[in-house]
Amino acid sequence: MSTFRWARSLQLTLAVIKPDAVAHPVISEAVHQRILNNNFIIVRSKELQWRAADSQKFYCEHKGRFFYQRLVEFMSSGPMRAYILAHEDAIQLWRNLMGPTKVFRARITAPETVRGSLGLTDTRNSTHGSDSVESACREIQFFFPEFNPSQWYKEQEHLYRAGPICYDEERLEHRLMTV
Ligand code: RTP
Ligand code: MG
Repeated sequence: MSTFRWARSLQLTLAVIKPDAVAHPVISEAVHQRILNNNFIIVRSKELQWRAADSQKFYCEHKGRFFYQRLVEFMSSGPMRAYILAHEDAIQLWRNLMGPTKVFRARITAPETVRGSLGLTDTRNSTHGSDSVESACREIQFFFPEFNPSQWYKEQEHLYRAGPICYDEERLEHRLMTV
């Protein structure tokens, strides 16, 4: 049970453990532990696999870039684990924990980060995180179409903030102890 005290309101972000990390259970477990150790609330989590069309749609902003083809093939190459995470400043905190996009740079400049310590290459860089409030909202709905972020902020945020919450080891999610 957690009765962690939050000073400010919770923010949602989308975090994804990419196929390179899910392929190695020790690596994906290490990422999962970092999420828990940093007091993120796991609001939802699930394993899923994309078809090429999902990958192309999600990364349409990168179409034309030299790494686009490699990226879309990689992201539909195997299972992923997606999370809706809540925390104060969740978006920035998760991006700080991931570290720089390019693994070969991250290994030198930020070796303690997820990508610096667990990423394989600049494409196979272990994790994804939303980069703004707008993209978090869009990306959460891409991965969890049944979840409504606006409704969560209105009806659930204050409940998660007040707690208590507990961690369900089978579902790999936190839940409110009051419901
Ligand atoms: P992400 O979207 O995955 O959280 O990463 P990001 O914001 O740090 O990076 P972004 O520029 O959005 O790039 C999306 C993903 O494309 C792959 N990439 N490969 N080979 C390369 O030089 C290269 N550059 C980007 C990475 O998988 C990156 O996360
Ligand atoms: Mg990005």
